[in-house]
Amino acid sequence: MSEKKVNQDKFGELDRKNKEALLGGGEKRIEQQHAKGKLTARERLQILLDEGSFQELGKFVMHRSKDFGLDKEHYLGDGVVTGYGTIHGRLVYVFSQDFTVFGGSLSETHAEKIVKIMELAMKNGAPVIGLNDSGGARIQEGVVSLGGYADIFYRNVLASGVIPQISAIMGPCAGGAVYSPAMTDFIFMVENTSFMFVTGPNVVKTVTHENVTAEELGGASTHSMKSGVTHFACANEAECIAQLRTLFGYIPQNCEEEAPRLAYTPGNEKREALNNIIPANPNQPYDMRDVIQGVVDSGSFFEVHKNYAENIVVGFARLAGRSIGIVGNQPASLAGVLDIDSSIKGARFVRFCDCFNIPLLVLEDVPGFLPGTDQEWNGIIVNGAKLLYAFSEATVPRVTVITRKAYGGAYDVMNSKHIGADLNFAWPTAEIAVMGAKGAAEIIFKKEISEASNPEAKLNEKVDEYTRKFANPYRAAHRGYIDEVIYPEQTREKLIGAFKMLENKVAKLPKKKHGNIPL
Ligand code: HXC
Repeated sequence: MSEKKVNQDKFGELDRKNKEALLGGGEKRIEQQHAKGKLTARERLQILLDEGSFQELGKFVMHRSKDFGLDKEHYLGDGVVTGYGTIHGRLVYVFSQDFTVFGGSLSETHAEKIVKIMELAMKNGAPVIGLNDSGGARIQEGVVSLGGYADIFYRNVLASGVIPQISAIMGPCAGGAVYSPAMTDFIFMVENTSFMFVTGPNVVKTVTHENVTAEELGGASTHSMKSGVTHFACANEAECIAQLRTLFGYIPQNCEEEAPRLAYTPGNEKREALNNIIPANPNQPYDMRDVIQGVVDSGSFFEVHKNYAENIVVGFARLAGRSIGIVGNQPASLAGVLDIDSSIKGARFVRFCDCFNIPLLVLEDVPGFLPGTDQEWNGIIVNGAKLLYAFSEATVPRVTVITRKAYGGAYDVMNSKHIGADLNFAWPTAEIAVMGAKGAAEIIFKKEISEASNPEAKLNEKVDEYTRKFANPYRAAHRGYIDEVIYPEQTREKLIGAFKMLENKVAKLPKKKHGNIPL
């Protein structure tokens, strides 16, 4: 007798909807979901996990509510499919919310199922992936659904830094449904079909009288470009899940393991194309991604937070088969200046890498922090400090390459030797100083310039003098702040050697309960 028949018999007393749920959603409900351009909860798991690897847990769980007619409406599984399986052969715990059951809303039992797999994941040291599609707390249940959310939030925090937690937003996620993803390490969204907001457009209209669509308020573009809430905005669900599987390849199972390493056969590591990236004019932009592509294993750069704070580039890559995290200033956007958003973006990424033993490579070309009232009034002091703090407390192998500018406080912040970097390289084009030559000359030679018979010529003379003295890497190298000045073409080879040398690095922070990062 088929499993379907057995189940139908066993639960024959339940209503039609119940049977549909048991059979994976029922034809009508599957059609409804597909009509919205969405996959069902089970279809999503099918493409996320290795074929045949999914083991479901809690398939027969049902809610215990009696109010507002819920005693007459039960769905097996209660709106969430939970269990474990593998991705590229590696264990992962999963939950996938079913929007066709009470809008994927979270009941007491729905929450219990998620908590169960989170606890298993923590005990067994494997990541949790949540495929979210939920209208938030199940309104009919009242406080028990709020309690259920809090139970999940608490586990999110306990699991933070112990196992990777990844969220994909596959539908409209509202209310409590956004706070659990917010506490996970990475968030994926799907263009046009997924939304995240604490309160939806109707509530917004009532309270603030703003007219805003769901897409504008909390769509994938909004959160990938404006708020930075999501790290990846994908064209459709299949692409979203494919990207999620790719990300998985760069990260370890838990904080005590290393990310999977690919086999690598050493070859000629000289990359002459790197010699041609820095423009002759130091004020001309270039794309730091060209440097990244030139240094890492071919095609291995996987960018994170691509559309947000584009003046800093972060992402994973492989170097000689080993997973590394890269943080690079981006001269092609705002001259690579550090501002509030880029500091937060960088800090968050550095902390993830440090939690999960992923070595850090910093590519530096930064003219300083962005000046202005907007930045000051919105707290560049405390937000810029986040990046400084994150680098300073990171104990993973840390290597910096200064390609061009390293000015002012940004020199200190961008993984300088002084805050614990292990190896610091500079290209001959590096300029390491308190500020740019013109600004410096105007301040320190102000009197001499104003009293000169030709102030402009005097200024140029002083700019030249300052440039000769400071706009190079050698002052820093004399002090040992730079370990070696290298040609761009040598960078890949030097970095492979550096990370190999640092492979067994052990560094401990002073004993403490936890630090107090300036939030
Ligand atoms: C119970 C819910 C529900 C919920 C949706 N449904 N949200 N049932 N509790 N929270 C049900 C609907 O009644 C409907 O049932 C079905 O799911 C589909 O919903 P629709 O509204 O038809 O879908 P759609 O038009 O796509 O809109 C989706 C939505 C909207 C944007 C998510 O449903 C919505 O705004 N829901 C409420 C969101 C919300 O305010 N949640 C906050 C809860 S408080 P039928 O039977 O008609 O198919 C909260 C606090 C936690 O979460 C705090 C923690 C910090």
